[in-house]
Amino acid sequence: MEKRKVIIDCDPGYDDAVALLLAAGNPNIEVLAITTVAGNQTLEKVTRNALRIAKLARLEEVTVAAGAARPLLRDQVVVAANIHGESGLDGTTLPEAEYRVDPRCAAQVIVDTIMREPEKTVTLVPIGPLTNIALAARLEPRIVDRVKEVVLMGGGYHIGNVKPMAEFNIENDPEAAYIVFEEKWPIVMVGLDLTYQALATKDVKEKIARIDTPCAQFLTQVLTRFSENYKRSKGFDEPPVHDPCAIAYVIDPSIIQVRKAPVHVEYRGQFTSGMTVTDLRKPAPSDCHTAVATHLARERFWNLIIEAVKNQ
Ligand code: BDR
Ligand code: CA
Repeated sequence: MEKRKVIIDCDPGYDDAVALLLAAGNPNIEVLAITTVAGNQTLEKVTRNALRIAKLARLEEVTVAAGAARPLLRDQVVVAANIHGESGLDGTTLPEAEYRVDPRCAAQVIVDTIMREPEKTVTLVPIGPLTNIALAARLEPRIVDRVKEVVLMGGGYHIGNVKPMAEFNIENDPEAAYIVFEEKWPIVMVGLDLTYQALATKDVKEKIARIDTPCAQFLTQVLTRFSENYKRSKGFDEPPVHDPCAIAYVIDPSIIQVRKAPVHVEYRGQFTSGMTVTDLRKPAPSDCHTAVATHLARERFWNLIIEAVKNQ
C-alpha cells in the first residue's frame, strides 16, 4: 500500500500528542511536516512539545515549523490549561530536544510542501485552531486544488464544548475557520459528534499500560493526566481523545463513517459564534465539498493506536 503523505498542523496538547504517536508508529503514513499553532498552549510551548514528541517517536528528521502565535483578528483568549496544564503536557516525561525549527513560518512550509509533492497526494491534517491553514490558503491559493484532502479535528454538527455550539479549535479562530471551510478543497470535519465516541476507557488504558515501549509509557502518562483533568474540569468519567481520530481516518477511512453535508462557520452570532452550521436536512448537493464524521469503529480505532505504540 502506498503511504499516505500528511502535514500535521497541531497544538500539543495531550490528544495532539496521541495523534503524533499514531502517525509516527503507523506504517501507512508518511509525515512530511509538523507545523504548530497557538491553541492548547502558547506557540512557544506547543512547538517545544512537538519537537520533544518528535524526538521520542523517531520523527526527528521531519520538518517542524512554528506558525501563528495568535488568531487572525482576535486576541488569544482561550488557552486550555485546565485540560492540558501549564506546559501543555503536564505530568509527562519526554526527552529534551534541540530547538530545531525550520526558519520558514508554518504557512510557508505548508505551501512549499504541497507545491513540491505531486498533485493530490498530500493530506492536510489540522488538529488545532485553523490560523495557519487559512494563512496558507491565502498565501498560495493553488494549494486548494492541489491538496488531496483536508481532514480536520474541529467543530461538531450538533454539539460544542467551549460554548453550547462551539468547539475549541473553531472558537479559537472563527475567522480562520470560516476561510478554510469556504475554500473548495475536500474537507472532512472530524468533530465532537465523532470524537466523543473515542473515549479512553479503563480497559483501553489497561491494555496500553501493559506495553513496555517508551512511546506506550508516555501514552499512559498522557491518558492518565488527560483523564484526571477531563474529570475535574468537565465531569467526564472517560476522556474523549479527539485528535488521533483525524489521523485514523487518513490511515483507514473505513474506521469512520462520514456523511456529505454543507458546513459553514458562524463568526458573528451573539450565541453561535464558532459554530459549524451543518445542513443535514436533505442529501447534500453533488458539488458539496464538505463531509462530517458520524460514526467511529471504536475498537479498531484503539487497536491502531495500540499497534502504533507497540512499534516504538
Ligand atoms: C480540540 O481542542 C483541543 O483542546 C484538543 O487538542 C482538540 O484538538 C477538542 O475540542
Ligand atoms: Ca489539538
